[in-house]
Amino acid sequence: MKILAIETSCDDTSVSILEDGTRVLSSIVSSQTELHSVYGGVVPEVAAREHLKNIIPALNDALLESSSKLEEIDYIAVTRGPGLIGSLIVGVNTARLLAVMCHKPLVAIQHIEGHIYANWLEDNLREGQSPPVFPLVCLTVSGGHSNLIYMEKHLSYQIIGETQDDAAGEAFDKVARMLGLGYPGGPVISRYAESGNKDRFTLPYVDLTKKPSRDNDGFLVKAEESLDFSFSGLKTAVLNVVKNSNKDEITKQDIAASFQETANGILTRNLLRAIKKYQPKSVLLSGGVAANTNLRSSIGKTVINYDGNLELYFPRPAYCTDNAAMIGAAAYEHILKNNFTNPEKLTPDPGLKLT
Ligand code: KG4
Ligand code: ZN
Repeated sequence: MKILAIETSCDDTSVSILEDGTRVLSSIVSSQTELHSVYGGVVPEVAAREHLKNIIPALNDALLESSSKLEEIDYIAVTRGPGLIGSLIVGVNTARLLAVMCHKPLVAIQHIEGHIYANWLEDNLREGQSPPVFPLVCLTVSGGHSNLIYMEKHLSYQIIGETQDDAAGEAFDKVARMLGLGYPGGPVISRYAESGNKDRFTLPYVDLTKKPSRDNDGFLVKAEESLDFSFSGLKTAVLNVVKNSNKDEITKQDIAASFQETANGILTRNLLRAIKKYQPKSVLLSGGVAANTNLRSSIGKTVINYDGNLELYFPRPAYCTDNAAMIGAAAYEHILKNNFTNPEKLTPDPGLKLT
């Protein structure tokens, strides 16, 4: 069974062809990073125009690289949202057209759902590793989202923690901008942090756990530990450090290392809280920030320390950031449940929630 998947929610035009939902035959990602880096972030109108330019070549390349003909494709899958409306329109309309003209069933996918399902792609399983088992907890951290998700079974999502302000990737991007390191911030912060001293600046490990309260008898009652995130206070703390420091390379490296250590510490801490509370059989990472080496190793050590039998999954870096293969992997589960959408009625939804 072949799925052709399309992802255009932000600034990557991606088309992938998968065999049986988990084997990637081709994964084309046409990145616009260079174009947007001049502006220090994604410019929605520029992104939409680039998608329009790139979508047909990406489609052709995906077919060519997988040695597939359009007639051999069984299903079409596409990201419906969330994302930038102009970007989503290009992918959604391409998918609708393909579905109608080639008489193929169409599957609409929520973007975060796609990020989670990157962990089922065969390319992302380590040697001898079986696919994730349920129940599981997944930490999805990207430029637009920071979520802890509990899944009891396929396609069942319970958001157990989320950000109250900035997403983790957004914090990496903003700190990089403060340091004049360009866009996107995650990879460059990670590079600077490698040579930096993480202990030079003390930054707040923001914890949204409520203060203890008193019950009717006057006894102190501890509040349940929060699984939610907040990165805006951390970002402001970094801004104060930046304002009060020299902007020499060593200082930039030390700020990057101190920030990365704190942000990753917060993510790791909340993930561990979720593991303790929900007792999953598998732990998954996904989203652009999951490409961060320091985060992967911090979570790896924490999970092993907690329970050596708990299986940890994280996609290869290329499948952490936006790609269509992950959309195809999520679509596979919908196909098995006959969750199809009417191509003539499908519209993009920039605010689509994970339900
Ligand atoms: O998943 P993604 O490609 O797009 C969204 O769905 O948002 O994530 C992009 C985000 C950006 O904020 C980028 O700075 C961050 O992921 N990112 C990283 C790394 N690579 C990408 N953050 C930290 N470390 C990295 N190595
Ligand atoms: Zn994404």
